[in-house]
Formats: sequence, C-alpha cells, structure tokens
Amino acid sequence: MKYEELKSHIEVFICNYKREDQECCLDKGSKELTDKLKKWAKEETNKEIKVFRSGCLGKCSEGIAMTCFPQKNYMLDVRIDDFEEIKKGLAEALQKFKS
Ligand code: FES
Repeated sequence: MKYEELKSHIEVFICNYKREDQECCLDKGSKELTDKLKKWAKEETNKEIKVFRSGCLGKCSEGIAMTCFPQKNYMLDVRIDDFEEIKKGLAEALQKFKS
C-alpha cells in the first residue's frame, strides 16, 4: 500500500443512482448537474475542486443529493437551477482553504 497526497482541496460527490422502485437523483437531473459542475471545476479551479458521480447517498426522497468534503455536509433538494449558487459557494470555500 502507498499514499499519495490529493491535489484537490474540496471533493464533491453527487448521487447519480438510478432506482426503479422509488424516486431517485438520476431521474431529477443529477447527471446533467454533475457534468456541468465537473466541467466548471476542471476548467475554472485548476482541479482544486474535484467532482465525482456517486452511488446512492441514502437521501433518495430528498435528492438531488450531494455531499462535500472536507465540509462534511449534505446538500439536498438540489436542482439544476442551483448550479450558479453551488458554484459560488464552492469557489468561496476554495478561497478560504487557500488563504
Ligand atoms: S438515489 Fe440519490 S440519494 Fe438515493
């Protein structure tokens, strides 16, 4: 086993899980939101914010569900329209980590 330091300061996980038996984040547009945030993070944050698709976060009825580290909080009932607000919040958090 070996360790390697992460280059990112913030890691964002967005549920992209598809459920057949109940509501799920994928049906609410989580893939589109993930793709937009991944593109923004890659192009605008020099990969200091990394965005990942995740499996179910256990908050299916409150999706789209996301979580961020190291903040360790859930963002629930997220909509694609929240993209600008999410971006702003992540950019502000990144500045705090870097200062
Ligand atoms: S399907 Fe997204 S939290 Fe369960």
